Amino acid sequence: MANTIINNGEKVAANDKNKVTVLRLRRHKREGVKTVITTAYDYPQARIVDGAGVDAILVGDSLGMTTLGYKTTIPVTMDDMIRHSEAVARGAKNAFLIGDMPYMSYQVSNEEAVFNAGRFVKAGMDCVKVEGAMVDRIRAIADSGIMVMSHLGLTPHTRAKLGGYRVQGKTAKQAEIILEQALALQEAGCSFLLLEGMPRESAEMISNKLEIPVYGIGAGDLVDGQLVIFHDLMGLFWEFKSKFVKRYCEAGQIMQEAIKQYAEEVRTGAFPAKENFYAIKEEELEKLLGGGNWKHEEIVYETDQGFPTNHSATPNTVTVKKNKK
Ligand code: KIV
Repeated sequence: MANTIINNGEKVAANDKNKVTVLRLRRHKREGVKTVITTAYDYPQARIVDGAGVDAILVGDSLGMTTLGYKTTIPVTMDDMIRHSEAVARGAKNAFLIGDMPYMSYQVSNEEAVFNAGRFVKAGMDCVKVEGAMVDRIRAIADSGIMVMSHLGLTPHTRAKLGGYRVQGKTAKQAEIILEQALALQEAGCSFLLLEGMPRESAEMISNKLEIPVYGIGAGDLVDGQLVIFHDLMGLFWEFKSKFVKRYCEAGQIMQEAIKQYAEEVRTGAFPAKENFYAIKEEELEKLLGGGNWKHEEIVYETDQGFPTNHSATPNTVTVKKNKK
């Protein structure tokens, strides 16, 4: 049976011609079409955002904060990322999939970086994302045939070095440094750049000087596409709200109202109702309520040899009635 996806509420066949590839994303840049990216961390989220027609999904290590309840992304492990990447890959049929390399999965050596990037590809990702100007690592991963998105600007893995979650590229000098890093990463083989937390003009200058698609999260409107975290869009993250985030829905409140209604109905006996019950046949019900007399009835069943045998079941014997083939 052909795979199906929910597309604008309709079930349609998923096939490879709908799959977003690097070629489509490059064409977006050439033609000035904005690329839409959000995160997803599990199967239902992947179904929702893929069905809504986003171009790309990042399985971000932000899952540490949005899904696992950590204060930062630092505790997230490769095993966490692979488990969630696999779930997203099962749910997303068309979107281009990006796996986020977590803290200390790429810093130690080229070998470890390539090995871990390979785990993401095996989990169904099309590309991996690596924070910072790690030119050597990017070259090693790209040379191994795996596409890489570099992530510059506000990079959460090095937030202590940046003095906290601070907007980057606010001075001409800072923006120039980020541009130099970006050009070196492009030269090393990275396929995409993500800029986080910087003024729109700095991000535009960098985007205009690069051939590869440049996306932004909190980097203004003048880049090739936008990434916003699913939980921020949906109203499912309550610890803080960044200036660049727009909430499109208060899903947390909607879900909580639904759960309150469920609790109320359980407590008042309104749920479960008739339409939620499983049926029992009339004769079985009579037996059930008839004081156990049925246990004394003669039961006929087929033996393995295929000829009928009569048995009297005692009240303490449980007899399985075999079906005729
Ligand atoms: O993990 C993530 O979602 C990210 C974005 C914040 C860019 O890296």
